[in-house]
Amino acid sequence: MDIQKIGVIGAGQMGAGIAHVAAISGYEVMLVDVSDVAIEKGLRTISKNMDRQVSKDVFDEVRKNKFLESIQTSTSVNDIENCDLVIEAASENESVKSSIFKDVCKVLKKESYIASNTSSISITKLASYTDRPEKFIGMHFMNPVPIMKLVEMIKGIATSKECYEDVVAVAEKMGKIVATSEDYPGFIVNRILMPMINEACFVLSEGIADRESIDQSMKLGTAHPMGPLELADFIGLDTCLAIMEVLYEGFADSKYRPNPLLRKYVDAGWLGKKTGKGFYDYTS
Ligand SMILES: NC(=O)c1ccc[n+]([C@@H]2O[C@H](COP(=O)([O-])OP(=O)(O)OC[C@H]3O[C@@H](n4cnc5c(N)ncnc54)[C@H](O)[C@@H]3O)[C@@H](O)[C@H]2O)c1
Repeated sequence: MDIQKIGVIGAGQMGAGIAHVAAISGYEVMLVDVSDVAIEKGLRTISKNMDRQVSKDVFDEVRKNKFLESIQTSTSVNDIENCDLVIEAASENESVKSSIFKDVCKVLKKESYIASNTSSISITKLASYTDRPEKFIGMHFMNPVPIMKLVEMIKGIATSKECYEDVVAVAEKMGKIVATSEDYPGFIVNRILMPMINEACFVLSEGIADRESIDQSMKLGTAHPMGPLELADFIGLDTCLAIMEVLYEGFADSKYRPNPLLRKYVDAGWLGKKTGKGFYDYTS
């Protein structure tokens, strides 16, 4: 299938990043969010990140403006009707995503593909909320999308070979490298990463070490570019908690129990960088 127009649902950290890479890879983009504020913030982020690429001579100001013009926005999911591929990157919540997919299927042309950027929810289950499980796939970008090379491609039980191959081709056109995973909780990256972040929360909450020592140990001791608490703030503590809950329920194994301090931070609305406070303070 010749994919030319991509719909992106959710204009948060991930959706804005996906719209950015789609635009600079030559796709027309329809970026949809329920919130006007999120769309405005998303467009500002895209423009700022493109400025960085202009300053590095990746492309010039004229092309930047062309790329920005190729991104249309809307607060209504009805406007994705003529997209060839819709990439859902809304909040990590199954009921939010299921209602989006039901709405998408009412308007999206029958031959188009749907992908979800979910970090952890079963692709097979999300596909069941659509009218086209064979045209549904997991397309898990990493944060920040314009910089990180990897896209995990997750095949649901019904995903067709054509869908997999066509969406892999989109990821490759976006300059990404694909790793393919079967549909099991956490896929590859989060199955390994999130228990480490959760364990760092236990080390903190048990008073074994302070946040700086935890982050510094993993940076200087294991050559991680960011410490686990700093990384959790960057990802979003709500997203981290949601992924741990999926691992815990999906495997019914207590080794994945979410750390209570992580839950407390989320209850407080301290979601990390995006809200100005998480394990660290970003207000200044
Ligand atoms: N943050 C990360 O590091 C990361 C990495 C990979 C994948 N993901 C996944 O990407 C998805 C989005 O994460 P994020 O970090 O961008 O979250 P975010 O909170 O920054 O953005 C989510 C956006 O979805 C919008 N939204 C909520 N309900 C909607 C609806 N019904 N229709 C349209 N838009 C709606 C919100 O207004 C918000 O702008 C999640 O599934 C998450 O698990 C996140």
